[in-house]
Parts: sequence; structure tokens; C-alpha cells
Amino acid sequence: MASNHILGIDIGGSGIKGAPVDLAKGQLAADRHKIETPKGATPEDVAEVVEQIVEHFADEVDKNTPIGITVPGVIHHGVVKFAANIDKSWIETDADKLFTERLGREVHVVNDADAAGMAEVHYGAGKDVKGVVLLTTLGTGIGSALFLDGKLLPNTELGHLEIDGHDAETRAASSAKEREDLSYKEWAERLQRYYSHVEALLWPDLIIVGGGISRKSDKFLPRLDLRTPIVPADLRNEAGIIGAAWYAKNFA
Ligand code: BGC
Repeated sequence: MASNHILGIDIGGSGIKGAPVDLAKGQLAADRHKIETPKGATPEDVAEVVEQIVEHFADEVDKNTPIGITVPGVIHHGVVKFAANIDKSWIETDADKLFTERLGREVHVVNDADAAGMAEVHYGAGKDVKGVVLLTTLGTGIGSALFLDGKLLPNTELGHLEIDGHDAETRAASSAKEREDLSYKEWAERLQRYYSHVEALLWPDLIIVGGGISRKSDKFLPRLDLRTPIVPADLRNEAGIIGAAWYAKNFA
């Protein structure tokens, strides 16, 4: 049991995944444990699954260490303020308090995209990149994490920009591709509209694209014509877990 191993847990729409993270290396220190997200996914039901994941790693993680947990919504000082794709009962839930009480441990809750971004900026595609780095996750929604010289500006929520009269994520998230059965070419046109709007507002130095579909980035990133370099995330599905652990350890 190494003391720099911190448990990171990533709450997603289909699965809740956790693993101890070796923060010296920015890698999982054991195979991740995944449990299906309970139907409805109320805070209480999710807390129960989170507890099972913590128990699963009881022998591997020092119980005096903090735990980092991601939630796919705005987290303002530990409280969920907005959540587009999870049960509405999360709104105004003090998630830090809920998990801390349930687990009897110090817990820090962070937006899922902010966590993935922290992992990429410290260990992955954004490592040592100076200036403005934007990570977006393409999944059920579009998550965003914005950094200046490696420092996060939290809760940017750029998936909810209104573009052409639509909430952007409803048109350009990978769930829209699935729902509307779009080809990569058709979906890339939506992404082009989205990313050209975003780069015109922020002038980033680098855009990193995460989310499950980033595994297939060769099918859509080469189709985009942007002035900003745009690359797939390095840490893929593990970024949320790694970033959650990083956040818990570095929480000030
Ligand atoms: C939520 C964000 C979240 C993103 C990805 C959006 O709908 O508003 O908070 O980061 O989905 O899960």
C-alpha cells in the first residue's frame, strides 16, 4: 500500500468506475472496478455504489487518504448546482457532505470534465503546454475544462453554448451522433460548427478531445478545419479517475 495512491471514482451515465491512482506516475495502480450506474441514479443510490467501490479497494488504499469523485454537473464548493444529464434530485445536493458522511473519509467532488482535464494537463496530452488549453469531452453531453498555464478555471460548461438556436451538446455530443444515426462525416460538420465557435471565443493554444469516442478520433478530427491544434486525449477512459484522485490530493 503506497501512500501516494489515492482513490479516484468517476460517476458516469452508464457506469461508476474507480481505481487507486499512483499520482507519481499518473497511472492506475490497480485494475479499475466498474459497477453499473443504478437506474434513476439518485444521490443516495449512487452513494451506495460508491461505497461498494471504496470497499473493493479497502486493502489497497490507506483509509486516511482523501477520495476524489467526479459528478457530471456544475460543482460549486462541493454542492451540485446544475446537472443536464443526471437525476434532477442532484441539484442543490451537497455532494461533498453526502459522500464524506457516507464514507467516513475526506472526499472532494469535482465536475467530470474538469477532472479529465486535470489528468490530461498533468499527465497527458496537455502536459507542459503553456497558455490556454481547452479539454472537451464528447459523450452523453459535452463537458469542458479550461486551463491557463495548467491552472483550471472550473465549471466552464461550454457544452451548453447556444449555437444556431440549440444547446450545443444536443447537436454535437456523441450521443447526438448515435441518436440521429449520423455518419462520421455528418457528425464532423456539427463538430466543425461547434469548435469553430468555441475557438473564436477563447483563442485556445490547444484543444484536447476526450470521451469514449476519442478512441476513434482518426475518423473525425482530420475532417475539422480549425486554426487551433486539436488532439485526442491521451488517458482516454481513465482520465476521470486519475483527475479525481489528483484533485483530492491537491485540494486546498
Ligand atoms: C454537464 C456538464 C458535464 C458534461 C459532461 C453537461 O451536460 O452540464 O457539467 O461536464 O455534460 O458530462
